[in-house]
Amino acid sequence: MARIAILYGGRSGEHEVSRTSAASVLRNLAPHHEPILIGIDRNGTWYLQDLPEAGSESESLDIRIDDGLRCSILPGSGIIGPDGRKLAVDAVLPILHGSYGEDGTMQGLLEIARVAYAGSGVLGSSVCMDKEMSKRIWREAGLPVVPWRTLISGRDDPESPALAEAVFKDLGTPLFVKPANAGSSVGVSKVKNAAELTEAIRTAWRHDKKALVEKAISGREIECSVMGYEAPWAFPPGEVIPAGNHGFYDYDAKYVDPDGALLSVPADLEEDTAKGIRSIAVQAYRTVEAGGLARVDFLLDTVSGEIFINEINTLPGMTRISLFPRMTAAEGLGFTDMLERLIQGALEQASYRDGLSYDH
Ligand SMILES: Nc1ncnc2c1ncn2[C@@H]1O[C@H](COP(=O)(O)OP(=O)(O)O)[C@@H](O)[C@H]1O
Ligand SMILES: [Mg+2]
Repeated sequence: MARIAILYGGRSGEHEVSRTSAASVLRNLAPHHEPILIGIDRNGTWYLQDLPEAGSESESLDIRIDDGLRCSILPGSGIIGPDGRKLAVDAVLPILHGSYGEDGTMQGLLEIARVAYAGSGVLGSSVCMDKEMSKRIWREAGLPVVPWRTLISGRDDPESPALAEAVFKDLGTPLFVKPANAGSSVGVSKVKNAAELTEAIRTAWRHDKKALVEKAISGREIECSVMGYEAPWAFPPGEVIPAGNHGFYDYDAKYVDPDGALLSVPADLEEDTAKGIRSIAVQAYRTVEAGGLARVDFLLDTVSGEIFINEINTLPGMTRISLFPRMTAAEGLGFTDMLERLIQGALEQASYRDGLSYDH
C-alpha cells in the first residue's frame, strides 16, 4: 500500500487531456493504494480534490477551485495540504502533459521538495520537451531525424523571401512548421508556399520563441512505448492512422473528431521493421536520458522505406484509448501493472537520490 498523489490539469495547452488521462489512471490504480488527487488549475494553483464517488465512470477529473483546498510545496519537506500540515505522500504520478508538467519544471519542484515522482528527471524531461534539443542529440548519436531548420523569433524574419527560398530549396515542399515546445499538434501547420510559411512561422511563435521548419515525410506514423531506467524496454509499436479530412494528425483529429484517427495496436509491420523501430526507440530514449516511461513517435516514409524519429513524449496520453497503455497491455503489461512499475520506479529513483553523498 502506498499513498499516491495524482497531479493533473496544469498550466498547459494540454490541460484538458491531462484531466482525461488522470481519470483513467485513477480508475486503473491498484486498489491497495490510497490515491490523493491534486488538481492544478490553468493558472498553476494546486487544489486538493475529493475522490469521485465510487462507481463514477466520468471520463475526466474535475478541479474544484476553492481557496480552502489550496496545497503548496515546501522545499525539503514535501507537499502541504489545505490545513497547513504535510500531506503523507509516498510517490507522485505527474499525469501532466506539456508545459509545467512534462518539461522538467515540475520535476525540479518535486526534487526540491524531496518528493518521489514517476517518470523522467529534470534533464530528460526538459530535453524531450524541446524538439530542437532532442533532435540535436539524436543527430549527434547518429539516429535518424527529419531534416529541419530552427527559426527564432526576434532573430529571423518570417517575411524574408530569401529565407523562404532557402527552406523550400533545402527541405522541399510541402513543409511542416511547429513550435519547439508544445504538444497535441498545437501550433503545427503544413505549408506549400512562401505566404503560408510566413503565417505558419508566426503561428508557431505564438507558442514558443523557437520554431522548427521540417521536411514533410509522406507515409505512416508509428509510435513505440518504452519503459525503464538503466535497461529500458520497448514494446511492439502501434500506429496512428489519421482519417477523414484531417491533412495530418492535428488537434481535432486527436481530441475533437471521434473518428479523426484510428489507433491500431500492434502496427501492421514487417518483423524486421518493427524490430528496427524498437531498437531505435530504446536508443532514442537512452540518449536523451528519459526515465520511467516515454512514447517515441516515428515517421515512416512509405516510398523510400526510411524511418525517422519524429518526437518523444515523456508523459504520453493515458486516456482509455491512448496508445501508450494500449501498447504495453498488448504485450501483457496491463494498465494497473504498468502503473505499479511507474510507482516502483519513482520510489527507487528517490531512494537512489537520497543515497547520494552531498558531503565533502
Ligand atoms: N515532418 C513531418 N512530416 C510529416 N508529418 C508531420 C511532420 N511533423 C509533424 N507532422 C504531423 O503533425 C503532427 C503533430 O506534430 P508533432 O511533431 O508530433 O507535434 P506534437 O508534439 O504537437 O504532437 C504529427 O503527428 C504528424 O501528423
Ligand atoms: Mg506528436
